[in-house]
Amino acid sequence: MDWKGHVAVVTGAGSGIGQAIAERFAEVGAEVVIAEVNRQQGEAAAADLQARYGKGLFVRTDVSKAADCRAMVQRTVAAYGHLDTLVNNAGVNFVKPTLQMEEADWDRVIDVDLKGTFLCSRYALEVMVPRKQGNVINIASVHTLATLPEAVPYAAAKAGVRMMTSALAIEFAPYGIRVNAVSPGLTDTQIWQDIQNAAENPAEARQHWYDNIPLGRVQTAREVANVVLFLASDQATYITGANIMSDGGVTVQLVSRAHYASKPLEGQVKR
Ligand SMILES: NC(=O)c1ccc[n+]([C@@H]2O[C@H](COP(=O)([O-])OP(=O)(O)OC[C@H]3O[C@@H](n4cnc5c(N)ncnc54)[C@H](O)[C@@H]3O)[C@@H](O)[C@H]2O)c1
Repeated sequence: MDWKGHVAVVTGAGSGIGQAIAERFAEVGAEVVIAEVNRQQGEAAAADLQARYGKGLFVRTDVSKAADCRAMVQRTVAAYGHLDTLVNNAGVNFVKPTLQMEEADWDRVIDVDLKGTFLCSRYALEVMVPRKQGNVINIASVHTLATLPEAVPYAAAKAGVRMMTSALAIEFAPYGIRVNAVSPGLTDTQIWQDIQNAAENPAEARQHWYDNIPLGRVQTAREVANVVLFLASDQATYITGANIMSDGGVTVQLVSRAHYASKPLEGQVKR
């Protein structure tokens, strides 16, 4: 596919998965807008892409604020003339026991992960509809299907993103606009570094998580970016409303590999 002139906005592209997605678009020759709340990270990410690919425009955006989302889309159209792909990647994760949770904790996660995805989609779709083309890709999570204790707002937000994907997909299909989600499992970004840094024995901590993943490892941010690029491309023109799991199989297992290996059913189950 020829990506020349393709314009992609990636929210939260100042680090982690979003940065890898922005790089993937720049690499193939698309124009990329880095819509990021953290000015320092956003400017650094844009400068890096400019130096390596001659692409990358930083637009400071807090996705939880409607005025920011509207202005970011306007700035994109002013710079490049149109918008082809919006990637709603900005998100905050957060684990805390429910009985210690304050209203502000709930609001912070829901405002960025759920409301932010809606607001950016709403203003991006407004400029996509008249052209009758475009696509929206929401970075959801394995938490759309299965979750952990003490992750209530995050699980609720990501499950909401999953159904928002379906609802937007059917509303905008008549315009030829596709809306999909990619749901990553554990990915090597700051959160994975934090897990290892917090452990007394990082090697043991790594193995503990690998034992729960059928493919036996954590994925790279680039592996998520590859799925996003596929969905944005003309290889995926009949896919809309999908939620693609990029999770190493973690959400299709009944029990972990380690759990099963300790007591395999073979020889125990009699007909
Ligand atoms: N890393 C994982 O294991 C994993 C797994 C499943 C899903 N995800 C999802 O992938 C996405 C990216 O995760 P990551 O690990 O790269 O996180 P990250 O913390 O490395 O990056 C998130 C980026 O979003 C930005 N951001 C936060 N609030 C924002 C706001 N209000 N407006 C604009 N930008 C904002 C941050 O500044 C940061 O640059 C998130 O939606 C996350 O929920 C991550």
